[in-house]
Amino acid sequence: MLNSLEPSATMTDEELESYRDRFAAHLSQTVPGRKELVVSAADACTLRSADGRVYLDMTSGIAVANVGHSRPEVVEAVQRQMSRYAHVNVYGRFVIPEQVEMAERLSRAAGGELSTAYLTSSGAESTECALKLARKYTGRPKFVAMERAYHGRTFGALSVSWREQWRAPFEPLLPEVEFVPFDDLEAAAAAIDERTAAVIVEPIQGEGGIRVPSDGFLPGLRELCDRSGALLICDEVQGGMGRAGAWFSHQLWGVQPDIVTCAKAVGGGLPLGAVLARPEVFQTFLEPALSHLTTMGGNPVACAAGIAAFDVIEREGLVDRSARVGEYLRERLESVRGQFPDLLTDIRGRGLWCAFELSVPAQQVADAMQERGVLVGSVLNSEGTIRVTPPLVITPAEIDVFIGVLRTVLGRLA
Ligand SMILES: Cc1ncc(COP(=O)(O)O)c(C=O)c1O
Repeated sequence: MLNSLEPSATMTDEELESYRDRFAAHLSQTVPGRKELVVSAADACTLRSADGRVYLDMTSGIAVANVGHSRPEVVEAVQRQMSRYAHVNVYGRFVIPEQVEMAERLSRAAGGELSTAYLTSSGAESTECALKLARKYTGRPKFVAMERAYHGRTFGALSVSWREQWRAPFEPLLPEVEFVPFDDLEAAAAAIDERTAAVIVEPIQGEGGIRVPSDGFLPGLRELCDRSGALLICDEVQGGMGRAGAWFSHQLWGVQPDIVTCAKAVGGGLPLGAVLARPEVFQTFLEPALSHLTTMGGNPVACAAGIAAFDVIEREGLVDRSARVGEYLRERLESVRGQFPDLLTDIRGRGLWCAFELSVPAQQVADAMQERGVLVGSVLNSEGTIRVTPPLVITPAEIDVFIGVLRTVLGRLA
């Protein structure tokens, strides 16, 4: 717990400044500007800075800490696994029981036919694997992706991610990628053809601003894929592990994808991701053997953490809790919108995966909230949007704290 932290976890002003300077000097930054908050510890829904301040974390490290920070069961599992072995060989030479346990849990959560997992270390790596798998399995060249989509920053993932300003400097990317407006079945129908290997979609768009499609969209995409022989890839990197009030967000519409990608919360805070598909689809990576490889994917310590986190979600019913408490969060946000209709103009989301739209710069509001001890974030592909993705263990009382701070900040801007 935070209140049992060693006093040494706080730093002197000189130490704080030194870390800020050395961070700026030695860590490659893609987000400009000097960083003020020096992290000291995190526990459940709170984060403590090294100057002794306590923050309510409404970001979960961007949808990673679904079971809360420093969850004791995860900490213990990591310590136990680390003392046995951390890394041996993952290229199919040995059976790693932790990988088996992790893969079984993921395919159980996915239900249906997706009984096989390829374990990775990150979301982008899961996207790369899924794209290669779809190409190889179908023998087709083309991908259909969505406007506002985000699937990661590696070359393949970037090729199917929407925002032009981040794609253009790195071209040429993968050829034959067609973007269609999210939630537009007519446009999708015009783009999906017999050259299409796969349609890749976040069932609810994360970086696009937590955009929930109309009910016919995902089932409609499934139908279009079935008709053309293209695979349906659902990116559940952000929307998986209970975030949207279902294990995976596509389950909200009862759709069965051909491939599911996940990462973020899968490792309980450690780097772990997975691609799920039918065994016969993965068979294609055996012809020739070693068609896809990773050294660290499915690292046993990350798997041990992931198993512990998965079991916490299951045991504590956090998937249903996400749906329930998410409703409360949106209700409370609606009351703020009632008070400041000109400032807070839209609220979207499912479960504890929520966003609201501001008529003032989102970063200004996020910074003012941080000043008052609440961490919220922006998103990559939607201006003016604030993302709210707290740990799924957040209490209504903590949500009330967040709402109180939001009211204060908007009140000052009004
Ligand atoms: C939907 C989605 N896919 C893929 C990624 C990439 O994941 P990573 O940052 O682990 O590479 C993200 C990251 O935010 C994401 O939100």
